[in-house]
Amino acid sequence: VKILCLNGPNLNLLGTREPDLYGHHGLEHIGEELIATAEAAGHELQMLQSNAEHTLIDAIHRAGREGVAFILFNPAAFTHTSIALRDALLAVRIPFIELHLSNVHAREPFRAQSYFSDIAEGVISGLGTQSYSLALTAALARLGAAR
Ligand code: DQA
Repeated sequence: VKILCLNGPNLNLLGTREPDLYGHHGLEHIGEELIATAEAAGHELQMLQSNAEHTLIDAIHRAGREGVAFILFNPAAFTHTSIALRDALLAVRIPFIELHLSNVHAREPFRAQSYFSDIAEGVISGLGTQSYSLALTAALARLGAAR
């Protein structure tokens, strides 16, 4: 089945952006690992990053039309601001895991507020690039159980 890994603003700078906080691996490197893991499990993973809210909204709408079964979502700063992205996910009703590289609860208080956590299947935060691989492991387990 199809899995979408969706990434919000500034995550294109991963690897160079505040590496002490976000790690040294680029998003491309993370994507390659996720795609390989999904493929080995017989699934197809697409990696997408955008700095634009409307592009992410359009990608969620497209995922709905194309029958994407699960979304791994790092909304980045939109986590704390975007009712529009929340509404898009509610509209397509695709189960998703919210994930963050950093521990959003150990940082500025405004990062503890999320427009996604209460409608997510689960939330993974603070485990660096492992947040991505753990989210995929959970998604694969759920997709396997649904088969
Ligand atoms: C982030 C956490 C957000 O608060 C921040 O705005 C990001 C990245 C993370 O992966 O840790 O851009 O989603």
